[in-house]
Amino acid sequence: MYQDYTHEPFTDFTVEKNREEFQLALKLVESELGKEYPLIIGGERITTEAKIISENPSNKEQIVGAVSKANQHLAEQAMQVADKTFNTWKKWRPEVRADILFRAAAIVRRRKHEFSAYLVYEAGKPWKEADADTAEAIDFLEYYGRQMLGLKKGFPVKSRKIEKNKLAYIPLGVGVVISPWNFAFAIMAGMTSAALVAGNTVLLKPASTTPVVAYKFIEVLEEAGLPDGVVNYIPGSGAEVGDYLVDHPRTRFISFTGSREVGIRIYERAAKVHPGQIWLKRVVAEMGGKDTIVVDHTADLDLAAQSIVQSAFGFSGQKCSACSRAVIHEDVYDEVLEKSIALTKELTVGNPVDDTNMGPVNDQGAFDKVMSYIAIGKEEGRLVTGGEGDLTNGYFIQPTIFADVDENARLMKEEIFGPVVAFCKVKDFDHALEVANNTEYGLTGAVISNKREHIEKAREEFHVGNLYFNRGCTGAIVGYHPFGGFNMSGTDSKAGGPDYLLHFTQGKLTTEQL
Ligand code: NAD
Ligand code: ALA
Repeated sequence: MYQDYTHEPFTDFTVEKNREEFQLALKLVESELGKEYPLIIGGERITTEAKIISENPSNKEQIVGAVSKANQHLAEQAMQVADKTFNTWKKWRPEVRADILFRAAAIVRRRKHEFSAYLVYEAGKPWKEADADTAEAIDFLEYYGRQMLGLKKGFPVKSRKIEKNKLAYIPLGVGVVISPWNFAFAIMAGMTSAALVAGNTVLLKPASTTPVVAYKFIEVLEEAGLPDGVVNYIPGSGAEVGDYLVDHPRTRFISFTGSREVGIRIYERAAKVHPGQIWLKRVVAEMGGKDTIVVDHTADLDLAAQSIVQSAFGFSGQKCSACSRAVIHEDVYDEVLEKSIALTKELTVGNPVDDTNMGPVNDQGAFDKVMSYIAIGKEEGRLVTGGEGDLTNGYFIQPTIFADVDENARLMKEEIFGPVVAFCKVKDFDHALEVANNTEYGLTGAVISNKREHIEKAREEFHVGNLYFNRGCTGAIVGYHPFGGFNMSGTDSKAGGPDYLLHFTQGKLTTEQL
């Protein structure tokens, strides 16, 4: 019997022993920086001359790892291995596939701080955020393992007296998993483990700025007993390897999390049927957000400010769920703004190795993009705190608030993916909901209110996949807050939810005449 699923607890960093253990893990990982990592195809380590250099975004001089880079030839080799391995892997019993996930979860749990330390160096995550990312990866393994044990039973269907009917869910085939850098461990591990536990084989193309933590995860899967060829590790250029595999006639499904632009490109390309292809590819695409916290005139204003600041600046606003718009009733607007500025000014920004509140943004491209939105913000609103960037060592940007931004400004509509939040004043709650719904995205949102009618109205009318009341809009927990968005936020696959594995299976009905 398996224990009931409960989520992995977060580390309490106010406890000195935990701090010491985390510092030891940071030292261990520091001693491993700069290593080389091969591709893994069918269990074989393949080293290429071309490399992806994973740098520490807090310290541009520091190389986290030099990772071999797949090209189309190697992607084809990986496809052939995955295609062949599918014929055997799909016959492994679901409970054995699940056991591999449970063992992998146990291995990661034992090395929890080590994985988090990799996230500090490779993704620039503050301790708390890195710890939550690792906890979420463990959760996905534990949760999807248990979901598979349920799914193997299929769903009950009726049978007439003359027949016996069964509805079973069987795997699809080879899946291409394309993961983002911002939850470099959790989302990568979640997408990979869901696909494989459902009986599929996987070509994993991790994000190019965070390939090392993905390699470490494949080592864990191997240690947990995953046979060669089930997951193949092929970092490479999105445009070269990504397009090639998305177009490939043997690709059965694509599981993508990332930007709206790349998601749409994959969705469109995957729709084309290529010579030799005998199915319609399935696409799960989870994309960006432009997430809003609404504050009404009845709200607890301290809670409102805390929720906004935490959701806007946790991991420097680099979460699809991050609050990038605070929409506030005119009666309480000034007070919430003032409280938010005060809290923001308390945040420390710097190398997260030193346990700062905020680390860097991802790379030079992210830095340039966020700074360009800060320039736009200066035209569209009133800069009340932050606004400065610092490239001396890494890609640091101060937490930035723009006040008095018009509801139709670019700052209110476009995903910035950095530590910038726009404040917008509204005249009443209906107006607040109108503004909250006025983007093409629909991922997360929150309402801070003490008025039941407002909460119920928002439940009906605030059109997002994950809506929270009287808390921030980030921090969904696997198994508790299934995650996915509406409209251009994606296919709403609800990662960490009870029906997620169905995306990676197909239902087969058998009827036996009695
Ligand atoms: P991105 O779209 O730039 O990259 C995501 C992945 O796609 C990477 O592995 C990248 O190499 C790959 N890629 C790039 N071009 C490709 C192509 N032509 N074909 C195939 N793959 C290609 O996104 P990112 O910068 O890594 O992540 C940030 C984005 O992800 C933000 O928009 C954020 O909102 C979104 N995100 C969404 C969720 C969610 O659950 N909705 C979660 C995390 C991040
Ligand atoms: N699942 C992550 C969150 O909820 C993105 O913040």
